[in-house]
Amino acid sequence: MTRVFESASDEQTRAIGGEIAGLLRPPLLLILTGDLGAGKTTLVKGVVAALNAGDEEAVTSPTFTLVHAYEGLQDGRPVRLMHLDVYRLESERQLATLGLAELMVDDALVLVEWGEKFASVTEMADGVIRIESLGADRRRITLSMPEADA
Ligand SMILES: Nc1ncnc2c1ncn2[C@@H]1O[C@H](COP(=O)(O)OP(=O)(O)O)[C@@H](O)[C@H]1O
Ligand SMILES: [Mg+2]
Repeated sequence: MTRVFESASDEQTRAIGGEIAGLLRPPLLLILTGDLGAGKTTLVKGVVAALNAGDEEAVTSPTFTLVHAYEGLQDGRPVRLMHLDVYRLESERQLATLGLAELMVDDALVLVEWGEKFASVTEMADGVIRIESLGADRRRITLSMPEADA
């Protein structure tokens, strides 16, 4: 499945995040790719809102400091949304401390900003959300999930 969206604002990118949320079926891991300031985190906020997953859980383990976890609902079913940004991680060894594979429980939706930096994340990923700037506030947002039906 490939879907292409265009956004002209922060708000539209959140709305597109909400639309994308409706297309995701756990367990799923997606890489979010795009330059700094492209709108990756903004899009995730739209996913969080759409899943009514507003309250971030207190995640206390030092291992999980880079993981923001939320409990949400999708079509009445519980989903566990996890949002990571691995921009500052420098090695597969550092990445391994996150225990990404262990996060992939049945009801997990895992969104990894800058996941393309690591081969292990690319291998684990079910797809990619790419955000490209088209100048000023305009963005092209492409969701690609090769294994998912159109
Ligand atoms: N169309 C747009 N979509 C998303 N963000 C936008 C857009 N236009 C302007 N912005 C601004 O760009 C910034 C995007 O920041 P952020 O989502 O943190 O990016 P990233 O996580 O990709 O580094 C925000 O300040 C946001 O208000
Ligand atoms: Mg970000």
